[in-house]
Amino acid sequence: MAGSDVNPGSLREFLAALESLRSSFDEAPLAPEEALRATEGRFLAKGGEIALLSRSLGRLSQDDRREAGSALQAFRARVTETLSTQRRYLESLASLERERQERYDLTEDLVRERRAAVGALNVVTQTRYALEDLFVGMGFSIETGPEVESEWYNFEALNVAKYHPARDAQDSFFLELGEPGSVVLRTQTSPVQIRLLERGVLPIYAVIPGKVFRRDTPDARHTPSFHQIEGLVVDEHITFQDLAGTVSGFTKAYFGQEISARLRPAYFPFTEPSAEFEITCTICLGSGCRTCSGVGWIELGGCGMVHPNVFRSVGVDPERWSGFAFGFGIERLAQMKHGLADMRVLLDNDLRFLSQFRG
Ligand code: DAH
Repeated sequence: MAGSDVNPGSLREFLAALESLRSSFDEAPLAPEEALRATEGRFLAKGGEIALLSRSLGRLSQDDRREAGSALQAFRARVTETLSTQRRYLESLASLERERQERYDLTEDLVRERRAAVGALNVVTQTRYALEDLFVGMGFSIETGPEVESEWYNFEALNVAKYHPARDAQDSFFLELGEPGSVVLRTQTSPVQIRLLERGVLPIYAVIPGKVFRRDTPDARHTPSFHQIEGLVVDEHITFQDLAGTVSGFTKAYFGQEISARLRPAYFPFTEPSAEFEITCTICLGSGCRTCSGVGWIELGGCGMVHPNVFRSVGVDPERWSGFAFGFGIERLAQMKHGLADMRVLLDNDLRFLSQFRG
């Protein structure tokens, strides 16, 4: 309380009192906030130390008063400046602390995340991606085509005769668009063969995954909308052996060495000769079970050598070019890969099933 209890009557005394006020200010607490406010009150308030000392100015001579007054002013300015700098500093500390407390660390939350809430790709999509990876690794490109097709692409250009049962409204979904029966939800991915050939860029080594639609009643092995992956290879000197080698290489790569592929004679309008592509039943490994009806083999799809009529329908010379094609059901592949007794679980959206395939 250096300044308040003296009442200097001379310049020397005044300056001494001011000096002691300075050192008591230098020792005054500036934090925390309440202490800062107290120090401010003590020095700068109306009845504070500086105001008290300034009252004694009146007792000095005019010259002394000027000198003493400006020294006191300078001190006052320093006190004011110091206190406001300190106030800003304390405020910024407080706001940092607030930010720290309010911070919401998203990375921490991700680590703690209940994983079910994140979701995952459906098994069918995962299977499709796995197949795409595999075929890309074998040198194929990935192509796509439209899900709504004209009757020409879906049937006609593929050599499907006018009386073929697939053309029946019992089997296909036709759209009410144009001539009746002229626009259809594609029943197979094979029409994309035509679209690729039409481009006229040969050779072709492509697979075409996508959705197809049929008027099927859902059961353990059928759903009215499902996915296929089509394959098309067109080059010079392609033979049935290339087809057999590709199918067998694919089977071993996707299902493992213990699963084999076999081809059995079949009929498809767009291939000649045609074959059904079967693999060892993955449930019983060939010994025979309910899923494979006791035969030890499961059909995955069809394949064959591209029919010359298909080449002719798009102006490709069948004397120079030959090729093979195949089409497999992706759901069927997923079913065999994961040993699913009933295909409908793939569509049921039951998290107890789906969460096993988070990948
Ligand atoms: N498109 C046929 C189907 O959906 C499957 C198929 C068979 C595709 C033979 C082909 C093939 O490319 O050559 O049943």
